[in-house]
Amino acid sequence: MSLPVVVSAEFADNLRIGKTGTTRKQEICRPATASRTPTKPGSHQLQPTDLRLGSIVRLLMQHATVVVSGTKIAQEVASSRSEVWRLIQQLRGLGVNVAGHPATGYQLRSVPDLLLPEILRPMVRGTIFDSHLHHFYKISSTNTAAMSAAADGGAEGTVFLAEEQTAGRGRGANAWQSPRSTGIYCSVILRPTLPPSEVLVLSLAAGLAVQAAIQQVDSRVKADLKWPNDLLIDGKKICGILTEMNAEATRVRYIVVGIGINVNQAGFPKDLPATSLRLVTGSEWSRVELTGALLKSLDREYRQLTQDPDARAEILERFSENSSWIFGKKVRIEENGFAFEGVTEGLDERGFLRVRTGHDVRIVLSGTVREK
Ligand code: BTN
Repeated sequence: MSLPVVVSAEFADNLRIGKTGTTRKQEICRPATASRTPTKPGSHQLQPTDLRLGSIVRLLMQHATVVVSGTKIAQEVASSRSEVWRLIQQLRGLGVNVAGHPATGYQLRSVPDLLLPEILRPMVRGTIFDSHLHHFYKISSTNTAAMSAAADGGAEGTVFLAEEQTAGRGRGANAWQSPRSTGIYCSVILRPTLPPSEVLVLSLAAGLAVQAAIQQVDSRVKADLKWPNDLLIDGKKICGILTEMNAEATRVRYIVVGIGINVNQAGFPKDLPATSLRLVTGSEWSRVELTGALLKSLDREYRQLTQDPDARAEILERFSENSSWIFGKKVRIEENGFAFEGVTEGLDERGFLRVRTGHDVRIVLSGTVREK
């Protein structure tokens, strides 16, 4: 019999981006389905994006070279022409460049880079993520929404994506700045049959998945994995991962892996050691392409970890090979109000960081790791 102990854990990141407010409101968010409910004032943070928007974008993309009549769109989304006009206005509000009006019909001026389920679904077919994609124009935090949906029974593979987060969360009380349509803000629900002690490896595997997805989109860009949950380029943070779980003492009930990637930000405050893929490469990235690659590579890592008995050791080996932080790095560790310095000496079999301090080797369970 398992102990009815609820553990809500998160794994460390290492960048103090800023503090959130002193209190965090409990968010009530059901897993979003094919909602057609118009956004009510004041409740917009919890409303999933109307699925008809994705259908209209897909239709306009399929007929990119011609003007599509309001009547045809209305038939496609089972609405009236005036409703189509209203939805087109909403799309424009989301930054989608649509020409035309009800009398002439509509045409896309450029392919939108919105993370709409209709656009992403074909890219993630066959993965555990292909049937529960939820998109929000604006939300407080995709992790908070995903944790709440998981508590309500949300299925494994449910994905929460947002164009903007108003209270994006990092580790501890840190905030994650989440401006509109510039980064990727993505949280997934997983329900592995793992003991809680194995969850760190899953979190490390998520880092490997992000690293691989970035390289798949542009093979010149290799982010460094900073144990346990950051990705850096030129020493600056490009991605943070917040893994939270609900578990009994011996059994995980559910895990939410939240991934924030700095994609098209044009700059950061001077005191923030952060960068974006756009700043690194000098050109804009397709968030859609990167999110598709991310979900596919996360699916690969997750299947391997949950299906292959040798996966844990293999993931730790790959993490060590693809991180400059695991061997021979002079570091300062701050953990539970206590600090020490040493040199990294690999990962132990559970994925914790080994740090040599003189004759001793200490095991770092969480906390802040900085280069000395
Ligand atoms: C960190 O480095 O401190 C972790 C940052 C994690 C940010 C992501 S963005 C998507 C998801 N929703 C959140 O509120 N946080 C995570």
